[in-house]
Formats: sequence, structure tokens, C-alpha cells
Amino acid sequence: MAAPWRLCRRCRVQAPSRISSRNRNICYLALCLVLVTTVLMIPGSEIAHYKYAEGAGKDIFLTKFSDDRGLGEDSLLREQRSVNNEFKVVLLWTDFFGSSTWREENDPFPACPVSTCELTTDKERVAEAAAVMFNARSLNDPSQLPPEHPPWQAGSVWTLHNSEPPYFTFLDLPLYDNVFNWTSSYRTDADIYSPYGGYVKKEPPPPPSDDNDYGDDVISKLVSIVKNSTADENASDVNQEDVQDVGTPDVYGMHDSLLYWMASNCRDRARRYVKVAKIARYLPVDTYGQCGTMQCQPRTQECEQMLSRYQFVLAFENGYCRDYVTEKLWDAYFRYQIPIVSGGADYSKFAIPNSYIDYDNFSSVEELVDHILRVSSDRDLYNSYFEWMNHYAVVRTPVANWCQICEALHDKGRQPQVYSDLVGWMGQDSCPMYSVSSSVYNGFGRYRCEG
Ligand SMILES: *[C@@H]1O[C@H](CO)[C@@H](O)[C@H](O)[C@H]1NC(C)=O
Ligand SMILES: *[C@@H]1O[C@H](CO)[C@@H](O)[C@H](O)[C@H]1NC(C)=O
Ligand SMILES: *[C@@H]1O[C@H](CO)[C@@H](O)[C@H](O)[C@H]1NC(C)=O
Ligand SMILES: *[C@@H]1O[C@H](CO)[C@@H](O)[C@H](O)[C@H]1NC(C)=O
Repeated sequence: MAAPWRLCRRCRVQAPSRISSRNRNICYLALCLVLVTTVLMIPGSEIAHYKYAEGAGKDIFLTKFSDDRGLGEDSLLREQRSVNNEFKVVLLWTDFFGSSTWREENDPFPACPVSTCELTTDKERVAEAAAVMFNARSLNDPSQLPPEHPPWQAGSVWTLHNSEPPYFTFLDLPLYDNVFNWTSSYRTDADIYSPYGGYVKKEPPPPPSDDNDYGDDVISKLVSIVKNSTADENASDVNQEDVQDVGTPDVYGMHDSLLYWMASNCRDRARRYVKVAKIARYLPVDTYGQCGTMQCQPRTQECEQMLSRYQFVLAFENGYCRDYVTEKLWDAYFRYQIPIVSGGADYSKFAIPNSYIDYDNFSSVEELVDHILRVSSDRDLYNSYFEWMNHYAVVRTPVANWCQICEALHDKGRQPQVYSDLVGWMGQDSCPMYSVSSSVYNGFGRYRCEG
């Protein structure tokens, strides 16, 4: 078959002058066929069956959450677990985006239900480490690893941490098969579930205003966003006596601008810019970062003030990866904004109930825009999206779920395991591309990650 670009060139060059319009149509038809065939041949949202950790019992999934109060955990399993007080050393072997301590200023463990662990960056202590942590983005080649799991270290778990979509992880994955025992990631099926954020149920007396600190035992109380999602379905059903009802705050009055988007990666695989452009046909979208004209130095007070003026933020993820919900969502809550979300996760399981607008929930962008305008101009309707503030507090989470790591390290019921097919686990299982073929597979128009 002729290469499509050849056909294309021939059509372009010859069409106007030398070939008749009938031939030209045939030419275009052929070109079209070639394109369609090519597109259909690109794999879309294939679900790969990875070889999961060898030797692992299925029950390891049940100890996912660090909360000791039975967040979805099987009580029988909990009784079987024997937690002892032995101190466990957790060694950070790589840095995390330039931070050798993975952004921890202090020992994170005292706030955990199981707190007999210690964080260290001292590689000399590798022999005594119960867990050795590797950030996927910081590993360049296997020579950076400690010497191969020596016999004295058979009890030590090497943990691969990943906060990014797999295609932003530049590991040559097959080289690392049979190396890592555990995974730590935003994926709920990782051994250590390390989400970007979370929310907790407020308990009387309501927590002080430093809700943003996860240090305060608050991470251990993370509402089990996945396993307990049905229990949280009806936010307004929460027993009113359990919480101090401060009345729905007038968040409406806090904003004087409509909508913004912030992105550093403008033409990403998720093709967020397509969605943004559709919305921008009807509404002004102030765009910050490299893709727009608005400037704002992230994480400065000035920037926060600027961004907090907006009623809505487009919290579109840069990858349609399973469970991939980043700080874009949680930051919106901290700024008292309604996030307009789009991504690979099932937001009904991750986001706070009745707090957000789901782009993919609308059959047309016009409907979405109508909805945004209605909410933006109706004080009561807008404020109703913040009713959750009576019941929940948003919390920041650490890079890795230290509490769960410490608890898992003390769990004597855990079977040894190793990831024998990392490509399978990291790659095909997660983020199908936003492509024409995947849209075909998933039904035209709406794109959902089934991975
Ligand atoms: C999770 O759900 C169970 C059963 O519905 C309930 O007993 C438990 O209190 C819930 N936990 C939280 C934190 O909501
Ligand atoms: C949520 O509310 C509906 C309607 O009131 C009710 O049928 C359902 O059982 C509630 N769900 C939960 C988990 O409480
Ligand atoms: C999705 O659409 C349904 C039906 O219109 C609506 O009830 C629901 O609130 C919407 N959810 C979100 C998150 O926008
Ligand atoms: C970790 O993986 C190594 C290498 O495959 C293996 O020898 C060891 O038993 C595993 N340890 C645990 C605790 O899973």
C-alpha cells in the first residue's frame, strides 16, 4: 500500500490541474481509506492482564488504607494481623523531584496509627532498611539500585513510587522486572495507595483552621474515598448532630472572576486543549502557564490571591489514567472554587460529593456552558456546591502514604511478593490515549477510561 503522505502529495500536486474531478475524488477516497485503516489499527483502550506480584495473596488488597478504624478493611483480616513495636527503617534511596526527603521536613510517622518507623536518606543504612523507596522519575538505569537483593535483605521491600502517568515515567521497565516488591502510587490497586489529596469527615469539635496540615493525625482519618464511596453518596444525610453546622458559607461572595485554566503542558496526550478550546468558544477562559497569556508564579501568595478570585477552574488531568486525580482537584477546594473535572478516574469515587462539575457528564459543550453560567449567576446554587464544608475537611497528603507503609511493614501476615511484569502493571493497564480510535471504541463523543 502506498504511504499515506505519498498519496496525499499526489492528490495535492495533481488534483487542481492534471486529473479530472472524478479521479480526484477517487484519490481522496483512497486517501481516506488509508487513514481510517491506520487509525483503527492503533490500539486504543486495551486492558492488559498483567502478571501481578508473584506469590502475593489476594488479601494484600484489603490492607490498602492506613486508617485503623476499619475503612473498608475486612475485620477478620485485621484480627489476624499482628502488629509489633519493632522499629522499621524506611530508606529513601532516590530523591523525589529534587527533594531528598520527599518533601518531608519532619519525621512523618508520629502521626500514624502504627508509628514505629523511621525515615532516613542515609544509604549506608541499606542493610537494616525494612523498606527501600525509589521514585520512578528519579531512576535512570538499574546501576543506580543498591546491590541486588542480597539474602540478608530478603525481608526488605523495595518499593517503586510513581506519581505520574506511566508515559511520563522514563524507566526502561523490563530491566526492573523482579526487582520491586511493592508499588506506591495514586492507583488504588497499588500496594501503597498514595493519593494526591483527600478529605476527612469533620468531627466535633471541628478542627482548627489548619485543615491543610496532614501532620495532625488527619491523614490516618482519610475518608476511604474508594471503598466507602457509597456511604458518602448522600453528603447531606450525614447526621447533623455529628457535626457543628456552621451553615453553608457564602463562597459566592468571595469571587469576582469566572473561569481559569492553568497548564504547563499545552499539547498533551490527553488533548485537554481541545476541550478548553470548545469551552472558550462560549466563555472567556483565563489561561495561566505556558499555554496562555496570564502570568502567575505558582505557590506564591500573590498567585494564590489571583487564582482564588475565580469561581471555577478547569481541573483537567493531563492523562486519562485510572485513578489519576491530582492536586488540580484538591487545590480547587483550597481556593473555594468549583472544579470542572475531566480525567480517567471515576470522580464520584474520589471527589467530594456535590462539589464539582464533570465535563464528561454533559452531552454537549453547550449544555456544560449553560450549566456553568446558571451556577455562576445564582448565589444559592453556587453556594450549594460548598455544602460539604459543613461535613468534610480537605487534607493535603504526603508524597507517599507513610502511615500505610509503616503499617504494612509491621504486618506479619503479608506474603513476600515481587513485580515480575512491570510493563504490564504500569503500562497497558493504565492510560489509553485520547485518540480517534479510542473514541470509536468507547463510543463517539464521550471518552471514558475503562482501564
Ligand atoms: C465506611 O462504611 C462503613 C459501612 O457502611 C461504615 O461503618 C464506616 O463508618 C464508614 N467509614 C467512614 C469513614 O465513613
Ligand atoms: C442516598 O439517598 C437515597 C435517597 O434518599 C437513598 O435511597 C439511599 O439509600 C442513600 N444512600 C446511602 C448510601 O445512604
Ligand atoms: C451529572 O448529571 C446528572 C444528570 O443531569 C446530575 O444529576 C449530576 O449532578 C451531574 N453530576 C455532576 C458531577 O455534574
Ligand atoms: C522482594 O523481592 C526479592 C527479589 O525478588 C525477593 O527475594 C524477596 O523475597 C522479596 N521480599 C519481600 C518481602 O517481598
